[in-house]
Amino acid sequence: MIPYGRQSVDQADIDAVVAVLQSDWLTQGPTIERFEQAMARRCEAAHAVAVCNATAALHIACLAAGLGPGDRLWTSPNTFLASANCGRYCGAEVDFVDIDPLTWNLDANALRLKLVVAESNGTLPKVVVAVAFAGQSCDMQAIAELSERYGFTLIEDASHAVGASYAGRPVGCGEFAAMTVFSFHPVKIITSAEGGMVLTNRPELAERMQRLRSHGMTRDPTQMTEHSHGPWYYQQVELGFNYRITDLQAALGLSQLDKLDGFIARRRELVARYDRLLAGLPLTLPSIQPGAESAWHLYVVRLQRARITPSHRQVFEALREAGVGVNLHYIPVHLQPYYRDLGFADGDFPEAERYYAEAISLPMYPGLSDEQQDYVVEQLRRIIS
Ligand SMILES: Cc1ncc(COP(=O)(O)O)c(C=O)c1O
Repeated sequence: MIPYGRQSVDQADIDAVVAVLQSDWLTQGPTIERFEQAMARRCEAAHAVAVCNATAALHIACLAAGLGPGDRLWTSPNTFLASANCGRYCGAEVDFVDIDPLTWNLDANALRLKLVVAESNGTLPKVVVAVAFAGQSCDMQAIAELSERYGFTLIEDASHAVGASYAGRPVGCGEFAAMTVFSFHPVKIITSAEGGMVLTNRPELAERMQRLRSHGMTRDPTQMTEHSHGPWYYQQVELGFNYRITDLQAALGLSQLDKLDGFIARRRELVARYDRLLAGLPLTLPSIQPGAESAWHLYVVRLQRARITPSHRQVFEALREAGVGVNLHYIPVHLQPYYRDLGFADGDFPEAERYYAEAISLPMYPGLSDEQQDYVVEQLRRIIS
């Protein structure tokens, strides 16, 4: 089976992890900070806070934004569960904004209209999580303007978008979002096995997230309520979590970061080949808005169903039977039983639902060979022709 995504781990990565295994620090040593600093430099951000996964990163980013019970978080329905669940962890209400029919990202115009209504009802969100779906940022310029106008904190869920750029600057630079979250799960652009990070330019947010990832503890005398009892002293000043990443994981992430440009270059070659090889088939191919450069975590095609005899499901199953490990990103989050129980229903976000009925993620990862990709295209062509 050709998978839809997979990590590319080489000997340099293995050596980097082994070096940490042989060192004095397996967990909270110097490599985490090196990984954070390297990511911050690469993304042109002032601060980076590494954690055990992007779900935890989203949670502490929401807490740092002050999200709590009685507040609202809005996000895209076309995302992984974590982009919405982070609001629920904070006790906030979650709502969604439908997607743009071209980019399949949260639609800035739909957001604008929903904010006008929310302002008149007194139900404005405190946080908007703008998901960079498949590796492409949303219309962040427009969304950032709305964040100024309506006073919500803009968090970019760039789990798919390590190494992407927008408006000429790296995703994560903090020009538009207060905080940017990355995932280093193995199918993502670079991996630390499990791992996540929040980037921000605001020192008070970074400091809060550093505390929240480690039990709400501090060793910094300026954050304490009384004088230190001695060199052993720490204080718990709020309720935090054990969301720490390890030095072992950070070593892998740091080593992978050296190869980020090469990974993205190969992804772009594969995109150019898919675009060329699939042209003319009854498929809608991904589109990129002006000013955005996707990291191409995913290559999603939409079936033009009026022009294809087999159903969406039949195409999906036939590809899997042919050894092509396609996937579907995403089941609209509002249609999950948990969110239906909170009052969401079919038809609430029609663009995301239409998208779900047509989308298929084709294999996309740096180790995919031209020959494998040709086979994927050949099988897809056979099944839908
Ligand atoms: C858009 C998005 N956000 C958040 C996450 C959560 O990432 P992690 O697995 O690192 O917790 C994912 C993971 O698939 C994702 O795709």
